[in-house]
Amino acid sequence: MAHITDQIPLAVAALSQGELVAMPTETVYGLAADAANDEAVAKVFALKGRPATNPLIVHVADTSWLEDWASDISDDAKLLMAAFWPGPLTLVLPAKASVSRTITAGQDTVALRMPAHPQALALLQQFGRALVAPSANKYMSISPTSSEHVARQFAADELLILEGGNCEVGLESTILALLPGDSPRLLRPGMVSVASIEALLGREVAQQAGGVVAPGQHHKHYSPGLPCHRFTDAVDMGELVDIENIGWIFCGNPKAVAGTVIDLGASPDAYAQGLYDALYQLDHGALSAIYVAEPPHSSEWQAVHNRLERAAKPL
Ligand code: TXA
Ligand code: MG
Repeated sequence: MAHITDQIPLAVAALSQGELVAMPTETVYGLAADAANDEAVAKVFALKGRPATNPLIVHVADTSWLEDWASDISDDAKLLMAAFWPGPLTLVLPAKASVSRTITAGQDTVALRMPAHPQALALLQQFGRALVAPSANKYMSISPTSSEHVARQFAADELLILEGGNCEVGLESTILALLPGDSPRLLRPGMVSVASIEALLGREVAQQAGGVVAPGQHHKHYSPGLPCHRFTDAVDMGELVDIENIGWIFCGNPKAVAGTVIDLGASPDAYAQGLYDALYQLDHGALSAIYVAEPPHSSEWQAVHNRLERAAKPL
């Protein structure tokens, strides 16, 4: 494993030259670039094939770094950072005038997060300043939760991938906007739950789109290449259960089917951790479609449902 730590100086050198590096985080792997170098930031959009209207998250290793980015850090923001950073919570705050509008897609707000993965923190610390990092996948495809997934996404590109094992959380961070004159507003559900944020702040988190949105959360986001469907227990699967070249994802209680089965189990945390890997595993030419059994609709499954609704069409 020695080469893992040896990779960080290489990654720092690449970032300093304006190159991109795939960086493990606890949520998903990110495609990192020097946030202070607009040409490097532009390369992120180009390599992902991402429209310029979809802003990037700025990653920091220390809350003191926020001085360069946020013009207003509310008491709510301070409470949340103290409780959840480093960790899978992104805060959207008012941006300083000096913040690159390439990063914010022209908006006056900036998304900030301190990742919890030791490799990400070590990279940020040794690089010494902030990194932008969207998920390290091509536009509209599945976020990577292992270095193999990243390599599959960027097989045709030269990209340094920092090895960090399998991501522990497995779904992208919760995004919460904390802007003057508005309630705290959920822009993307993640594994830091609305309930835990509300308990900490002692007030309600708005969940409907308000004035502020997270652009680029397309309906058809997170999609595998194969047709992908979700189904509830109420649906009769008919002869699908006898077809061999179908991939199935269950959340405990797998049905007896002829195809390839991945059972992610009934715990929301383990399911979230394994979901993208299951989609990567099943998304290959020997199968014709993927069918996903819908998990329960209780609040711990909110982030999972949000991703499944984009990855899979209802039957
Ligand atoms: O867990 C994560 O957040 C991962 C890891 C790598 O940190 N990153 C990630 O980045 O998921 P990305 O680019 O795939 O998704 C970022 C989301 C986008 O939907 C974008 O619209 C939103 O963050 N976002 C970024 N800046 C924003 C802003 N100023 N206002 C509203 N939404 C913003
Ligand atoms: Mg993404």
